[in-house]
Amino acid sequence: MVASSTRSIDLRGGTVAFLLAATAIAISPAPGLTAQENGDHDVTFAGDVAPILQQNCQICHRPSSVAPMSFLEYREVRRYARRIRDQVSRRLMPPYHYDTGDGIQDIKNDWRLTDEEIGTIVAWVNAGAPEGDPADMPAPIEWVDAQTWQQEPLLGPPDHVIRTLPFDVPAQGGDMWWRPQVPTDIPTDRWIRAMEVRPSFPAGRQVVHHANPKILRLNEDGEYQPMGNLSEYAMGKVGELVPRDAGRLLKPTDLIEWDTHYYPMGFEVSGDQIELGIWFYPEGYEPEFTQNLRLYPLRGDIALAPGGTAMTQGFYRWDHPVRIDSFQPHGHVHLHGMSVQAIYPNGRTELLSMVSDFDARWHHSYIYEDDAAPLLPAGTVIVMTGWYENTEGNPLTDPEVWYSRGSRTVDEMSHAWIAVTHLDDEGYERIVAERKEKARTVSNDGSR
Ligand code: HEC
Repeated sequence: MVASSTRSIDLRGGTVAFLLAATAIAISPAPGLTAQENGDHDVTFAGDVAPILQQNCQICHRPSSVAPMSFLEYREVRRYARRIRDQVSRRLMPPYHYDTGDGIQDIKNDWRLTDEEIGTIVAWVNAGAPEGDPADMPAPIEWVDAQTWQQEPLLGPPDHVIRTLPFDVPAQGGDMWWRPQVPTDIPTDRWIRAMEVRPSFPAGRQVVHHANPKILRLNEDGEYQPMGNLSEYAMGKVGELVPRDAGRLLKPTDLIEWDTHYYPMGFEVSGDQIELGIWFYPEGYEPEFTQNLRLYPLRGDIALAPGGTAMTQGFYRWDHPVRIDSFQPHGHVHLHGMSVQAIYPNGRTELLSMVSDFDARWHHSYIYEDDAAPLLPAGTVIVMTGWYENTEGNPLTDPEVWYSRGSRTVDEMSHAWIAVTHLDDEGYERIVAERKEKARTVSNDGSR
């Protein structure tokens, strides 16, 4: 996603509603209804399908955005009708591969279509993709330029931007790693509310494989110590948004160390700079808890013989209560799926999140809704499991070749990025009680 619409900016303060607000419904009415079964009126492009495409697809499917085909006009969409039916009914488009039905379903900035929207598209294609009355068409969206921050509709422009030093990428060659350190350039301590990494456009979007800014902080001995990551950028990624009661501290004396990975793509890029946009809490405001984002490794061999599969796992235990705020699987073209489970101190296990159709071209940090973010008492263990496929069924691999672990784009990787708010016992008990109270008033209301 590289752009936003003017309309979305008017919605600032709401949600990124125009784009991708969708409530996940666990029960799936099987897609494949005919127009008659779907309701008492004929489903048409102008009246039913165009609004769905506008809100969920056109940000990428329009001229000079990231997708190869445009879905603005009826005749353009008509040509792709069957492929659209196939992609949406398998939940491959929009590219947001968080499982529906398993694990926590309340995700912020959720791109998934509702089952009803999928049903409408399927019914329309099954009915022969009729145009309907052009007078029913929604007004077109006016798109702003591709350099809009993705969180801008929600938060406005960032308060502060930190850039990498300029870097040259040749046309040909292998992977390149680069770790420039740059000052934060802020006058006083500030607490961070949201972050977003943005490669240059259009060149950087193609040659940046990942870019992870990390905080280095001076300790008493005058040495710099790593303090956790700010964000992780990989293709398709939006930013990080910290829950209201938590923040990440940034100090004037901190350095930002960028861990960047470029990949030559057949054209030269000179002086590329990657940007980190930061949204701060108001000056002087101190959030109650500290949150950090970290890489959690999954261990074990990834030895992928031709036609082979592999599985890795990672375990982590906290000695204090925590809240898990987000989960982002990371792997390359062989990673097929990743899950994260909790094993509570009383032995109960719970699947927190499952991404079973991982696609390395699209990385998302799945940020849980405030009241759905898992609260883990001290002693809880999380188990991350990753599955890899080097088979004919994986269109992104060459199943004739061996692959293994490594940091090149063609190698495989295995970790999750998880943002954790560190709680004390009192904070934990209070949040648990607040959620119970909320659930009680909601059910007493009869609302929901
Ligand atoms: C975030 C950007 C993005 C969004 C949002 C998005 N697409 Fe795509 N789409 C792409 C890109 C990039 C491709 C080409 C690469 C690929 O196939 O993954 C693509 C490919 C496709 C294809 C062709 C796939 C094939 O190979 O047959 C279809 C059909 C499609 N999208 C439909 C949709 C529909 C329908 C929506 C909305 C419900 C949608 N897309 C939303 C980026 C997007």
